[in-house]
Amino acid sequence: MAKVSQIDIRDLSYTIEDKQILDGMSLSLAEQRVGVVGRNGSGKSTFARLVAGLVAPTKGTIRVNDLNLAKDRRAAMGEVGILFQNPEHQIIFPTVGEEIAFGLQQQGASKSAATEAMLDILDQFSLSHWKEAYIATLSQGQKHLVTLMSVVAMKPALLVLDEPFAGLDIPTKAQMKRYLNLYEGSLLHITHDPGDLEAYDSIIWIDQGRIQNVGSKEEVFPVYLEAMNRLGEHDDLADLSG
Ligand SMILES: Nc1ncnc2c1ncn2[C@@H]1O[C@H](COP(=O)(O)OP(=O)(O)OP(=O)(O)O)[C@@H](O)[C@H]1O
Ligand SMILES: [Mg+2]
Repeated sequence: MAKVSQIDIRDLSYTIEDKQILDGMSLSLAEQRVGVVGRNGSGKSTFARLVAGLVAPTKGTIRVNDLNLAKDRRAAMGEVGILFQNPEHQIIFPTVGEEIAFGLQQQGASKSAATEAMLDILDQFSLSHWKEAYIATLSQGQKHLVTLMSVVAMKPALLVLDEPFAGLDIPTKAQMKRYLNLYEGSLLHITHDPGDLEAYDSIIWIDQGRIQNVGSKEEVFPVYLEAMNRLGEHDDLADLSG
């Protein structure tokens, strides 16, 4: 049975240097596949970091499976994994094998168990030959794939994906999509492409740091796309969120 994560957000606000980035968000979801859409600068990546507990709210609360992950970092390790929009912000080790094994050891796996799980995930992606590869020599899309393998190897109950397909070629994206479709835990997936969210149960539309709409694909996408296309007809991007 697949495990469904419960996300409870009450009156969440987040401010940096007097700039209100997220403002008064409230939401309660227990779905296995949740999509997040919104314009550039609307606050999606900030929201992802808050859900993963990497930063604490300025106001309000976030609970994932009834845990306050910003306070309880130990619990957070098994509960939530995050794939950053920019792989450079995630990678620590020189080689692919070390990078993947590190997260597993952080979770408490022994060195040999971590190595075994690392070899297993590389094998699942048919990339066993990448084990000794230097990450610095990989392309941007290949680095993205390394960070994805690192985080899925940890099997978090909730996996937060911030634009996981950005920069991937068509076969790699298809492979990653197939893999994520089979992921047993819950996914919270940020993307600009509604086509990535065909199999998703709920969609959150964030606009200017607020929840503009939450509902099924059928409820959210038509209004979202209409609004985005209307904005796209103008050359003036001065109203870009931010
Ligand atoms: N560390 C920071 N310091 C100051 N402002 C920040 C910081 N991080 C984010 N912001 C601001 O918060 C707003 C939301 O940023 P965020 O990265 O969450 O947007 P996003 O929806 O993920 O955008 P994109 O679609 O381009 O990835 C932006 O206006 C950004 O400039
Ligand atoms: Mg972002």
